[in-house]
Amino acid sequence: MYKILTLNNISVKGLSRLPREQYEISSDTTRPDGILLRSFKMHDMEIPDSVAAIGRAGAGVNNIPVDQMTKRGVPVFNAPGANANAVKELVLAGLLIASRNIYPAMRFAGTLEGSDAEISAAVESGKKQFVGSELPSKKLGIIGLGAIGIRVANAASALGMKVIGYDPLISVENAWKLSRKVQQALSLDHLFSQCDAVSVHVPLLDATRGLVSKERIAMMPDGGTIVNLARGGICDDEAVLAALDSGKLNAYVIDFPTAALLKHPKVVSFPHLGASTEEAEENCAIMVADQLREYLEDGTVRNS
Ligand code: MLT
Repeated sequence: MYKILTLNNISVKGLSRLPREQYEISSDTTRPDGILLRSFKMHDMEIPDSVAAIGRAGAGVNNIPVDQMTKRGVPVFNAPGANANAVKELVLAGLLIASRNIYPAMRFAGTLEGSDAEISAAVESGKKQFVGSELPSKKLGIIGLGAIGIRVANAASALGMKVIGYDPLISVENAWKLSRKVQQALSLDHLFSQCDAVSVHVPLLDATRGLVSKERIAMMPDGGTIVNLARGGICDDEAVLAALDSGKLNAYVIDFPTAALLKHPKVVSFPHLGASTEEAEENCAIMVADQLREYLEDGTVRNS
């Protein structure tokens, strides 16, 4: 019998890949063989010696001490691409919320009171402050042309946006096999200098920390939008805030709110919602449960 410790809620469909005759699944930390989790931060946790493999039901693994586990010979599995469609949808929602002032407009509508005639009059005079702009008038820069970036490129292009992409690891030819919609940027600086909106789809690594910097924001046309549903730290938040205050940037769409950003009127803030759809949760859980099972039962390592 294998013992699996779950540190977050994991989709039932994923857990059903681990047959109950062979797997005991619980939050009991005593001598687990494997761990399944989503965003639980494992860095401060004492990870039992019995753990042979870890499965993250998501793409990022920065909540897991991967180096420490590698030294121990413990593979860390993840689910790249399994939630890409969900993230893509929220990127588009963020772009639309920002460009059409949807959030402040909805808040305004929610405060209206009185008779239908009074509400109608208030709507007509109030709506002027929420005049937006349309996506086809904008160029979107996508940093990171993996499963999410390519989907965002195709969807934004279908909505009429011009799309330019940059990825240091994916060749022009390979990106083009996935999307003929993406024009290739020559460099990151080239991308920033061209784009009204920039969306980042890279993991948080030493090489990507602060990638959206003061200098690069300064290269953008005035009134731009930055979308970061990937990880906090990829953008220099202080630089973004200064640019929002000066009017250089018009909006900042994030999935990892912080105290400094949360209340800013130009910040569109989601509570780490990018991968939170039933479909994505199922896809991710199935992908990592299968990997965990294959590893525990016959030592097969797929995508660690
Ligand atoms: C991811 O890394 O794919 C997401 O953080 C997954 C999640 O929301 O749990």
